[in-house]
Amino acid sequence: MELNPDLAKTAWEKAKEKGLHDRVTFLEADVMGVNLSEATVVVCYLITAASAALKPKFEAELKPGTRVVMESFPVPGWKPAETMSYEYKNFYLYRIPPEIDEKAPGIEYSDSGYFEYL
Ligand SMILES: C[S@@+](CC[C@H](N)C(=O)[O-])C[C@H]1O[C@@H](n2cnc3c(N)ncnc32)[C@H](O)[C@@H]1O
Repeated sequence: MELNPDLAKTAWEKAKEKGLHDRVTFLEADVMGVNLSEATVVVCYLITAASAALKPKFEAELKPGTRVVMESFPVPGWKPAETMSYEYKNFYLYRIPPEIDEKAPGIEYSDSGYFEYL
């Protein structure tokens, strides 16, 4: 799912180039409006603010055992079950229900007392 129509189109074009277009679907859609309850694996590349917005949706809709993989930007307050780095990117794996740790990566408290997303 991708909000930006140009990126959704590029994804289709790349899938066609690689002959994968009949095995994958790209939706130009707001993920917040899509029911995720049937997902078994969710893979996201979103900035932390978007991950934070999705967190209550994940907690409400995803079934126990569902895996969530976040590229580069972790879910604030969730402790990853595993992390790995590939080239210059970090990946965070969570299993539903996730372990909660408010100090987990993703949230940083500023001097003013408000939290800032990393
Ligand atoms: C870090 S960029 C990743 C861009 C591209 N998918 C890539 O892999 O290079 C995050 C993307 O998430 C998309 N996005 C943000 N909020 C979204 C939402 N609620 N639903 C769908 N896509 C969203 C943005 O349009 C943006 O392109």
